[in-house]
Amino acid sequence: FFISSDGSAVVEHTSQVVYLNDGELACIGPDGLHVTTTDAIPVHKEVTELEMTLEQIQLDGYEHHMLKEINEQPASLRDAMRGRMHQGQVWLGGLQVIDREWARCQRLMLTGCGTAWHAGLIGEYLFEELARIPTEVQYASELRYRNPIVEEGTLAVAISQSGETADTLAALHEVHTKGATVLGLVNAVGSTIARETDAGIYLHVGPEIGVASTKAFTAQVAVLTLMAIDLGRRRHLSAEYTAEILAELEQLPDKVAAALDLDAQCAALAKRLTERDNWLYMGRGINFPVALEGALKLKEISYIHAEGLHAAEMKHGPIALVDLDMPVIFVAALDSTYEKVLANIEEVNARGGRIIAIASKGDTRLEGLAEEVIYVPASHPLLSPILTTVPLQLIAYHAALERGHDVDKPRNLAKSVTVE
Ligand code: AGP
Repeated sequence: FFISSDGSAVVEHTSQVVYLNDGELACIGPDGLHVTTTDAIPVHKEVTELEMTLEQIQLDGYEHHMLKEINEQPASLRDAMRGRMHQGQVWLGGLQVIDREWARCQRLMLTGCGTAWHAGLIGEYLFEELARIPTEVQYASELRYRNPIVEEGTLAVAISQSGETADTLAALHEVHTKGATVLGLVNAVGSTIARETDAGIYLHVGPEIGVASTKAFTAQVAVLTLMAIDLGRRRHLSAEYTAEILAELEQLPDKVAAALDLDAQCAALAKRLTERDNWLYMGRGINFPVALEGALKLKEISYIHAEGLHAAEMKHGPIALVDLDMPVIFVAALDSTYEKVLANIEEVNARGGRIIAIASKGDTRLEGLAEEVIYVPASHPLLSPILTTVPLQLIAYHAALERGHDVDKPRNLAKSVTVE
């Protein structure tokens, strides 16, 4: 027998695992495994087959897990969407058990931490735009202590790669107690959050080893898009518009593969800017959370101070930070906020900031305004966050490398935050 806190630690030796719940004790002796409660009541445990292989957790020629996982995104997005789109419809088997609550939900409450919370923020735009459902997003650490209002028709979604994040788990208990149906959007199969939610949708992106979450994030956004389309279709969304977005989703993995070709440009950029100790990331609309995510990626692995800001909020204070040395990364996809972002870029330009723009291919208006433009494939505006995120992941990776840090194990951080 092996004892571990994660399947990836034992997959080299076995694929058969037994998950312990809170309040259970495992006793291993020459006569085998015995599980009891802490009150010594025997518990029968099922043996579960691990849904991961050794190859999935090996570096496979890459220098770091993070780089491998960034490059896996075309495949991981395909895996996350596989079997879930069919003939102009979305099919999410995990929702079957709560189909009634799902179809009738009046309000969504999305929760998670860190990168998962950023995915939730994008989800808010998607649900409101596609399904016209009032949606709120809360840090799990806030939700658990906030006395959240749960009414008839409130459905909560706990988003977590590991499925073990203590704050997210506590938040889901809190809203559960108050009567909400809780859905899990989780990657780690069999994890605590997956087990304790009323229903769940797995991401199916395979193990994510690098502490910086990358492929889980893009898959979370893709699955939230599918959920929003599904809910929208049951309400106001037309068959034509649904078909249009689904067709765009089908193309997304190839477009992400094209965005990965930006690696050399991102590496050169990171090298040029790595001496700068403070960076700003700005975006608006559905790409505002991408700015937050880009800044989080940079700070957690390169230890460069970075702030993600809503570009319109800049004039309410942060613009005072802009000087000739400040790298300002604008996420300027061709979405509904594009013209406004352009105006914000001009404001920073007038103050001498070093502007880097993440833009959509075919957009020619940023040349001359920005010090450098990084072009990602153009897409449906609602899907643009998945594409604009990719160069920001690469920039963070290369900046950390330039600074000589352990990219996969940044200081003071753990992959699963199982403490409050
Ligand atoms: C992301 O790069 C971070 N390592 C962190 O913010 C992470 O997303 C957060 O701790 C939530 O983890 P989870 O998805 O496993 O719940």
